[in-house]
Amino acid sequence: MAIDRRSARPLYRQVYEGYREAILDGRVRPGQRLPSTLEQLVAEGYFESRVGAGTVVARSLPDERRPPLPPDPDRAPRGRRRPRRLLPRGSAIRLRAPEPWLGGWGAFRVSQPAVERFPVAVWSSLLARHSRNPLARMLNYGDPMGHRPFREAVATYLRTARAVRCEPDNVMVVSGSQQALAITARVLLEPGHHVWVEEPGYRGARDVLSLAGARLAPVPVDHEGLDVTAGMAVCARARAAYVTPSHQYPLGMTMSASRRLQLLDWARRTGAWVIEDDYDSEYRYESFPIGALQGLDRDARVIYIGTFSKILFPSLRCGYLVIPLDLVPRFVAVREAMDIFPASLPQTALTDFINEGEFGRHLRRMRALYADRRATLVEALGQELGSDLSVIGDAAGMHLAVTARPRWPDHVVALRASQRGLWVMPLSSCYLGKPTRRGLVLGYGGTTAVEIPSAVHRLRRVIAPL
Ligand SMILES: Cc1ncc(COP(=O)(O)O)c(C=O)c1O
Repeated sequence: MAIDRRSARPLYRQVYEGYREAILDGRVRPGQRLPSTLEQLVAEGYFESRVGAGTVVARSLPDERRPPLPPDPDRAPRGRRRPRRLLPRGSAIRLRAPEPWLGGWGAFRVSQPAVERFPVAVWSSLLARHSRNPLARMLNYGDPMGHRPFREAVATYLRTARAVRCEPDNVMVVSGSQQALAITARVLLEPGHHVWVEEPGYRGARDVLSLAGARLAPVPVDHEGLDVTAGMAVCARARAAYVTPSHQYPLGMTMSASRRLQLLDWARRTGAWVIEDDYDSEYRYESFPIGALQGLDRDARVIYIGTFSKILFPSLRCGYLVIPLDLVPRFVAVREAMDIFPASLPQTALTDFINEGEFGRHLRRMRALYADRRATLVEALGQELGSDLSVIGDAAGMHLAVTARPRWPDHVVALRASQRGLWVMPLSSCYLGKPTRRGLVLGYGGTTAVEIPSAVHRLRRVIAPL
């Protein structure tokens, strides 16, 4: 046993590890006498001590030589070079090559709000308020639907700001849209069920639906949003449709009223579910916010999902589901099996943040800020790249899409841009099937109006040689 007296690791630890390894690789055999009582090895069952017989290696250990432990557990032992076989479920999501445009934070990165403008001082004082003298109730297990006062605040907000028809009993607090989708899929879908997804669309949703065993049916979107007629032609038997009607991700159009009614009609006739992802609808710059699709639903077919990732900050991991009442017990059962209930402290702080007016103030400030950033970006794109790229979609949200000529090498642009610290997403990466549009998706939530013109200029230098 190699003992190093100069090592930072304590001697007892070295002796313990030395014996443990010697036993595991068979250098010390069951029943072999040992010098002293090493309590830890006795407690773990490697040694046994008998009155009168001293301490020996436990006789119950298998008497065989094992290959030595590899120095690094991630290095496969010899003879196991082939990848291990995984069950189909574990490999439901295709492993993708690394996408450099998602590799950093900075200019044009999508899903990045203006975190530097979040009122951190207010937020930390609210967290402190609830941490200092917490009620015992708040330290214990909580309601699987979420903290009741928080659900009341969310329901009031959704009724007034988003025209969602809901009461606190419909609202389940979750750790973000992603968990909302995971629970929804578990409740409403069997493996093998078909689900309409927008083409192009949001990969986060596709992945979680695939993980639940759903078969994705990509349905094209046009200037009115999801093409319901095309959906019926592609897959009339789908059990659900996942849509972003307020601000299509990534193209940015709003689903028209006639398409909304057509989708709800299809769902009612076929018994399908509509999963509405209302991820950034608070921000519209040239008109009032458009009410949620859920508010038009007369048949309790819509599962509504919202998130605080865009309006506040993504690491909060807080979102909500609005669930038709008859489905609530099923959603609760799945939720309890997943993570039991959402963490209480952020919910108590958020309740005050909303009820004390901070949320409304922050929203108003951010709406003005993002409107300015968007206008600056549109202007700079027009000046620098107007002949190559056209801005599409409505003036809303925190990102915009630009389209280019067919076969424009958007992947190459995004790759080269990422090498210059510009995080633009190629539009073609948002397609499940063969891309029918080429272009870029540019986030402006986390890019200041001062930075934008020079960043667009740098982007032009990337694009020009192509
Ligand atoms: C379409 C869409 N939905 C939802 C989200 C937010 O997901 P989460 O609430 O899990 O952070 C995003 C973030 O990029 C998104 O683009």
